[in-house]
Amino acid sequence: MTSRTKQQWDERPDLPSDHFVSADIYTKQDIFDEEVTKLFAKQWKFVAHESELPNKGDFRTAEHAGKPLILYRGQDDVVRCFYNACSHRGSLVVTEPRGNAKYLTCFFHLWSFDGKGACTNITKPDGYDACATVTKDKMGLREVKCVVRLGMIFITLDDQAEEFDDYVGDSLNQLEEVMGTKPMEVFHLHRVNMNANWKQWQETNMELYHEWGHVVNRTTSVAASGYHERKWSIHPNGHGWLEPLKVDYGNYEGWGDRDNLLLPGLMPAEFRVVDLFPNTTVIVRGTTVRIDTTIPIAPGVTILEQRGLGLKEDSAEDRRTRQKHHNQFWGPLGRNLSEDVIFVDAVAKANFSNTAKWGIFARHENMGAQDDEIMRAYYSVWGKWMERRANDPYGNMTAATE
Ligand code: FES
Ligand SMILES: [Fe+2]
Repeated sequence: MTSRTKQQWDERPDLPSDHFVSADIYTKQDIFDEEVTKLFAKQWKFVAHESELPNKGDFRTAEHAGKPLILYRGQDDVVRCFYNACSHRGSLVVTEPRGNAKYLTCFFHLWSFDGKGACTNITKPDGYDACATVTKDKMGLREVKCVVRLGMIFITLDDQAEEFDDYVGDSLNQLEEVMGTKPMEVFHLHRVNMNANWKQWQETNMELYHEWGHVVNRTTSVAASGYHERKWSIHPNGHGWLEPLKVDYGNYEGWGDRDNLLLPGLMPAEFRVVDLFPNTTVIVRGTTVRIDTTIPIAPGVTILEQRGLGLKEDSAEDRRTRQKHHNQFWGPLGRNLSEDVIFVDAVAKANFSNTAKWGIFARHENMGAQDDEIMRAYYSVWGKWMERRANDPYGNMTAATE
């Protein structure tokens, strides 16, 4: 038999239940809505790098789990996060994407708030003299838990969430020396709107079997010695990192090597990848760091936010070199990122038209780079949070076929 009939095509794959997923996890609105409440509203999420708010009074807006947020560096130099919602009538307090202000003043009736979220001004307050609860000391902003680790700002909307360091475990160890030795700063931020599910993007950072599809990766990485031997390390909360690799950049004509301008703690041309559940990845390539994260809008609409980082102390020339290295791979016209967007769009097209019903994660390579164990672990954790199985989210399969 070669090709398959519709019935054969639609049949549950003849594989263990954790070796495949249903396309429904990407395409269904009710599953997406549950992800917002069960995953995104509960978990720690990377939202920005502290260098994006370098000065006291700097603020920038963000969005997470459908909620508008403000990141704000107070006069005490601490970055905090608040709902972007006024204590008065609930207007957005901040309508610009970024700026600097000693106080955040709501443009509707001019109530003001300081860097700790305290209300510092109620316009013409005597009108509330009969209302003991409408006073400055009771009208602060809603603060959101926020920590900064290795310059990265993480938040959670859940006041009861486990502490960040417990949630992340040792997953950031690979980045400690690289990002924690000298101050870094974002030199590049771009957003890509994708007609795909947010998990389909995350898969591009975990399912490394697809590196065969990248022109540069198959030449410089897959061909490098030791590529298949390095192992994944998988954290019980769904995070994971891969042992480092020395990439052969010289194999790609015109790129040369990348042995200079190394970030702290790296050998020449060293590659590292750290995936944080559910939708953030940090990738290190010798001279530059990429942080990417997604903002899920709808089952088939995802905004990818991608940041490139160098050292704050960089000379102009060194910065240009790092930017070039970053953008050759990951800029809007880079070889790697644009290929990933095309991959993801192609999978989403077949999934959202109900043409492809299953995705297979069945590779075993002794935990090597292209082993799908990282994907199986990811969807196992997803299933626990969602109380659904990724291969059968609606519980349609009989026990015999699970
Ligand atoms: S809604 Fe903000 S001051 Fe009235
Ligand atoms: Fe990729």
